[in-house]
Amino acid sequence: MILAISPKPAAAAGLGEMTFDNKIESMKKAGVGPVIFSHTTHENTIKCAECHPDIFIEKRGANDMSMKKNMDGEHCGACHDSTVAFPMYQCSKCHTQVGAAK
Ligand code: HEC
Ligand code: HEC
Ligand code: HEC
Repeated sequence: MILAISPKPAAAAGLGEMTFDNKIESMKKAGVGPVIFSHTTHENTIKCAECHPDIFIEKRGANDMSMKKNMDGEHCGACHDSTVAFPMYQCSKCHTQVGAAK
């Protein structure tokens, strides 16, 4: 695939921002809202191949993400563990509406 040789900027590929809310009911119970993930922001520091395909299969909804996996160092938790990037306890960096009424 050409992508590996000359990666298209995410925004140009229509991958600006994604909202993850598959687990919205559990999120509401825990007092947090949907997760916003920005390809554009990550692209500034991280190459496509650092996430795809080892950490994330590059297909919407194909990864069955969860906080348990994040905490176990998979998915977002592969980097957001306070070594590469901010740690998982900073809920409001990833989740919107933290602390909003349930
Ligand atoms: C920090 C990790 C990370 C980086 C870096 C990254 N992606 Fe992604 N990508 C994701 C995540 C997370 C998803 C959503 C997966 C899901 O929904 O399960 C995704 C999804 C995708 C999809 C699927 C879109 C769809 O609608 O099905 C494509 C294509 C993709 N990425 C391409 C790229 C390209 C090209 C780059 C480099 C410019 C890149 N990604 C960089 C994490 C990353
Ligand atoms: C680095 C980003 C990130 C941080 C920080 C983060 N989360 Fe999440 N969280 C996610 C992602 C991604 C999902 C899965 C979303 C989906 O697939 O719908 C998720 C899912 C959840 C869920 C849904 C149920 C479950 O177990 O998966 C809850 C509840 C949750 N997070 C609470 C929290 C709380 C509370 C914190 C702070 C202690 C936190 N999260 C910090 C990214 C993050
Ligand atoms: C391959 C490593 C890697 C993975 C995987 C990864 N991130 Fe990041 N992320 C980073 C780095 C590096 C930064 C920039 C440094 C920092 O802010 O600490 C960052 C920054 C962010 C920011 C801050 C953006 C800003 O505007 O400052 C958010 C929010 C974020 N990531 C969410 C996520 C979510 C949600 C996931 C999982 C779906 C994820 N990240 C997966 C490495 C990663």
